[in-house]
Amino acid sequence: TAPRPPEIQPAASRAQSKPRSSSVNGRGVSASDFKFGKQLGQGSYSTQVVFAKSVNTGEEFAVKVIDKGHLKRKDKTHIAQAERNTLVKLGSGHPGIVRLHSTFQDTWSLYFVLDLARNGELQSKISNLGSLSLACSRYYAAQIADTLEYMHSKGVLHRDLKPENVLLDDNFHIKICDFGTGKIMDSTERGETFVGTPQYVSPELLERNETSRSSDYWALGCIIFQMISGKFAFHGLSDYLTLEKIKKMEYSFPEGFDENAKDLVQKLLVRDPVQRLGAGPPGSTNDVQSLRSHPFFSSIDWSTLWSDPAPPLE
Ligand code: ADE
Repeated sequence: TAPRPPEIQPAASRAQSKPRSSSVNGRGVSASDFKFGKQLGQGSYSTQVVFAKSVNTGEEFAVKVIDKGHLKRKDKTHIAQAERNTLVKLGSGHPGIVRLHSTFQDTWSLYFVLDLARNGELQSKISNLGSLSLACSRYYAAQIADTLEYMHSKGVLHRDLKPENVLLDDNFHIKICDFGTGKIMDSTERGETFVGTPQYVSPELLERNETSRSSDYWALGCIIFQMISGKFAFHGLSDYLTLEKIKKMEYSFPEGFDENAKDLVQKLLVRDPVQRLGAGPPGSTNDVQSLRSHPFFSSIDWSTLWSDPAPPLE
C-alpha cells in the first residue's frame, strides 16, 4: 500500500490529547471517548481507518478518520456526507454491512465509528492463499449476493465493490465497507459520475457512464472469478489495457475451473446490464431469486447463511 499522507496520520493522536470535538449525532460522542490504536487500512478518499477502544465501555471499533482540510482542498466534502448518509440509510439492518455507530468531528477531522472487522480484507486472504477453496468461494459469494440484495432493496448501490472492500469479522463472515462512492439511487435507478477500480468496472460504466444495481453484480462476477482462480478476470499491463479488455469482454477461464461456477460467472459477466443475473425485475428469469437458485449455490441454505459457520479458510 502507498505511504499514508503525513498530514493525516497524526489526526487521531492529536484529537486524543486535545479533544476539541463537536458531536453531529446528538449523543455527545467525541474523540476523547476513544483510545486509538494501530492503523487498520486506508479508505478511498484521504482517509485512514484506525483501531479504537471505547474508554467507557471497552468496546472495540474501527474508526474512519477523514482529514477535513484534504476534503475541502479537493472539493470532496460531499463524498464524506454521502458516505455517512448511505451508512445511516443502511442502518443495522443487515449483518453483511459495516455498521455506523456514531460520527463526530473536531477541528481537523471527521470520524466515523464503525464495526470492527477483525479478520481483515478478503483481498489479503486471496493474496495469501493464492486462491480460495470452492467451499469458501461459494460461501463468500453467497454472503456478498445476499448483502447486495439488501443494499439494493434500500436503494443503495455500492459502485466500488472489490475484495478490498469486503472485510471479514470475528466469525469470518463478510462485512462490506467503503461506501464513499456509494450512491443513493433516484427513481430512475441511474447513477451519474463514477470513479472505481479498473478491474471491477462494468462495460456500461466505461462506455456510457451508467451505473445501476447491475454494475454491482458485474463486480460480483469478477470477485467470484478471482476467489476461485486467484487471478483477475480482466487484467492488462496498465489500467488502460485492463479497461480495453473489459470493453471487449476479453477474459478466459483457467483449466479446471468448476463448471457450475463458470456458468454463474458467465451469467454475471454479461455485457447487457439488463440481462445480467440478479439484476432482472422480480419474476424475471434473471431476478435475485434466479441468482439464489443457481446450481453453484445448490448447497447453500440461504435461511441460515449468517448463522452457519464459515468454511475453513483455505
Ligand atoms: N479497514 C477498513 N475498515 C475496517 C473495519 N471496519 N474494520 C477493520 N478494518 C477495516
